[in-house]
Amino acid sequence: MPNLPKVPKLPNPLGQDPYGAFVRSGPGALLAARTGLPRPPRLRRFEPGQELLTGPALVVELAGATRSAQVAGWLREAGARVLDDLAAAGEDRLGAIVVEATGVRRVAELAALREQLAPAFKRTAPSGRVVVLTGVPQEFTDPEARAVQRGLEGFARSLGKEARGGTTVNLLRVATGAGTALRSALEFLCSARSAFVDGQPIVVGPGAPVPARERRVAVVTGAAQGIGAACAEVLARSGHHVVCVDVAAAGERLAAVANRVHGSTLHLDVTADDAPARLADHLAVRFDGADVVVHNAGVTRDRSFVNLDAAAWDAVLGVNLLAPLRLTAGLLERGGALAPGARLVCLSSINGLAGAKGQTNYATSKAGLVGLVEALAVPLAERGMAVNAVAPGFVETPMTAAMPPVPREVGRRASSLQQGGLPVDVAEAVAWLAQPDAAGVDGQVLRVCGQSVLGA
Ligand SMILES: NC(=O)c1ccc[n+]([C@@H]2O[C@H](COP(=O)([O-])OP(=O)(O)OC[C@H]3O[C@@H](n4cnc5c(N)ncnc54)[C@H](O)[C@@H]3O)[C@@H](O)[C@H]2O)c1
Repeated sequence: MPNLPKVPKLPNPLGQDPYGAFVRSGPGALLAARTGLPRPPRLRRFEPGQELLTGPALVVELAGATRSAQVAGWLREAGARVLDDLAAAGEDRLGAIVVEATGVRRVAELAALREQLAPAFKRTAPSGRVVVLTGVPQEFTDPEARAVQRGLEGFARSLGKEARGGTTVNLLRVATGAGTALRSALEFLCSARSAFVDGQPIVVGPGAPVPARERRVAVVTGAAQGIGAACAEVLARSGHHVVCVDVAAAGERLAAVANRVHGSTLHLDVTADDAPARLADHLAVRFDGADVVVHNAGVTRDRSFVNLDAAAWDAVLGVNLLAPLRLTAGLLERGGALAPGARLVCLSSINGLAGAKGQTNYATSKAGLVGLVEALAVPLAERGMAVNAVAPGFVETPMTAAMPPVPREVGRRASSLQQGGLPVDVAEAVAWLAQPDAAGVDGQVLRVCGQSVLGA
């Protein structure tokens, strides 16, 4: 996009992971290698002007593939050197491997995976990318074809657990009639923007093209800190005016974020009775509607279920679930509050998907958001809009800094990437789902968790 604003970066909170910093140092690395302690890799993250990949890309074609040439063309247009076969890589390590498996129907045809992919997989560069393209299993009636297509998910998830050096393995399920979103999803998964997305399937379907607008407007709730502030930063970097929403008590921090991203502020308690009407009016009158709404504001009040009082239950359900439900209904009702083709993204959590001790209230609210997304996906698609959820795993924010040390350290290491994500990792996923060309990704829950063992 032309003339993008220069957005200063948020301070990098990696320093909150002292163990990770230690084992990346010389003596720490030696000790970890000798004792078998986890050695979290340094992940490649997006920088403006960065190349898509760190090495050449290889497209591995399985039986019945029809999209290899298209995929290779897209990668070339994105600046990648695409190889016909592994031998052409010479000494170079592979930046990405794309496996075109949408046409595989027979168990015997899967053997080619081992023959073709294994030698290439050994050659992936640090923070390399493996993307497996499959069909959508539900579209197959032949039992063997469906079994094979479903089996590829187990394959990709297992390969993700074997990958080293920050390499990720993800799966794109290509639905009949998949549109522009396939290219956009492929580029996202190959790029450094998806640093903490690992072991995940994403369904790409047909999607209505989004009308272009001179100025795109995004609203982020809970934008004063953590993931919300990072969403504001990344959305601003991708050309949005960001309306930064948070409670009045967070006023100074909110103003600092809004200034940094050249956005604006709105002091709003998302649980207030008049919050839906105030937000809808603000967006309709001041901005001619929002293109992107990120329901990010969230709270925790962790207690064992038997010790959970009504206040802790109501606070969590009120902010995390009831507010997104009410705000969304208010925005949909008020003509002009949402721009044509608007994208909604809800911040769920892997604890909502997996369940977590001491978090019955939180997990109810975060799984509830998945229900909201599932219920609204079709009606919103009929209006040319889309709604998705992003489910972060362990992310280094003030919320996780407040955890007791042992669960915090377990949360950090219990994933294929052996570290917590950064707020920017979640924000990159949110910003990708908010892109006009991600149309066709709808009603999905995208985990940004480094392939956490929780609920995988
Ligand atoms: N940090 C993680 O590891 C993690 C993991 C999974 C999901 N999440 C989810 O991501 C979202 C952001 O998490 P975070 O760690 O950045 O949280 P955070 O606590 O750092 O920030 C939350 C923000 O929401 C705001 N907020 C709270 N109640 C509000 C209200 N009633 N109205 C308006 N704003 C309100 C707060 O003032 C704060 O600025 C939350 O929904 C959280 O549940 C976080």
